[in-house]
Amino acid sequence: MYARLSGTGSYLPGNPVSNNELAARGIDTNDEWIVSRTGIRSRHLAHVGTTSSELGLIAAQKALEMAGVTAADLDLIIVATSTPDFIFPSTACLIQGKLGNKGAAAFDVQAVCAGFTYALGIAEKFICSGSHKKALVIGAEVFSRILDWNDRGTCVLFGDGAGAVVLEASDKPGILATAMHADGSQNGILNVPGQICGGQVTGDPFLRMDGQAVFKFAVRVLADVAEEVCKAAETQTSDVDWLIPHQANIRIIEATGKKLGIDRDKVIVTVDRHGNTSAASVPLALDEAVRDGRIQRGQKVLLEGVGGGFTWGAALLEF
Ligand SMILES: CC(C)(COP(=O)(O)OP(=O)(O)OC[C@H]1O[C@@H](n2cnc3c(N)ncnc32)[C@H](O)[C@@H]1OP(=O)(O)O)[C@@H](O)C(=O)NCCC(=O)NCCS
Repeated sequence: MYARLSGTGSYLPGNPVSNNELAARGIDTNDEWIVSRTGIRSRHLAHVGTTSSELGLIAAQKALEMAGVTAADLDLIIVATSTPDFIFPSTACLIQGKLGNKGAAAFDVQAVCAGFTYALGIAEKFICSGSHKKALVIGAEVFSRILDWNDRGTCVLFGDGAGAVVLEASDKPGILATAMHADGSQNGILNVPGQICGGQVTGDPFLRMDGQAVFKFAVRVLADVAEEVCKAAETQTSDVDWLIPHQANIRIIEATGKKLGIDRDKVIVTVDRHGNTSAASVPLALDEAVRDGRIQRGQKVLLEGVGGGFTWGAALLEF
């Protein structure tokens, strides 16, 4: 029994916002700094009031349409997000309600930018256990809500969006291996250290980051976890047709590809146009490459994420 991808979908809110537009909005930055350090040229920012469930719903509807699966057929809905609409109910339950599904198990996964790889690995285990047959896995974020627009070292890096996949039980190969890891001792290098208490926000409700520490950690674990899933599936990294790393920074993406010996033209890149959309980045890039015809049935695709926690994960699949 395999868990096989039968559909992908994605959604980006509004128009692209260029680096020059950010500078024109009063952020002390410039296109040259952002492009040379990160590869980011533009990102999408949701309107005030637009929520992760709204973005995730549209991505989910597109994935269901491609899969030819109705919402009523789903028996599992998992949403990876660190920017949920509410403390509760979960964003997964909100999307379930909007889709009109009743009865599927629905819950959120909070593993920040590794969230989609975690959610995919969890869904795969549900399906391969035989307990569930049709899963909707979504990564949806409005990271613009948790950015300090006075902190130029972080606010230029992130964007909003959503991506989704439908995963079904199949006797044809699908997900070949998954891995998930965390190191909670690194919680201080990337976090949003705030909470709601007694009706007030306490602590700091904005994203804070030690960029250089994150950079080094990300390159190391992205290479390690890619090798781990390839080994588990008895596949050489040179046999991977497409690498889809978390889209945080072109220098991290290129360093990871180089460490793995995977050619630059086999690496899917969206960070230049999306920025870092956290849990949405991998399914957004996957959907783009499926819809433009680069990823073909039967090809091997390696997905990987890394983010706050610190968390990291990967999935090797035959599409
Ligand atoms: C964030 C990152 C691009 C910063 O690059 P860096 O080379 O480490 O830059 P520094 O933070 O040392 O800052 C260098 C200078 O640029 C300035 N700077 C920071 N942000 C700037 C911006 N948006 N525009 C212009 N200048 C900026 C700093 O103030 C500093 O100036 P100073 O030397 O006069 O003090 C880099 O560390 C990085 O990509 N880290 C990984 C981040 C990431 O991927 N996070 C998500 C993981 S899931």
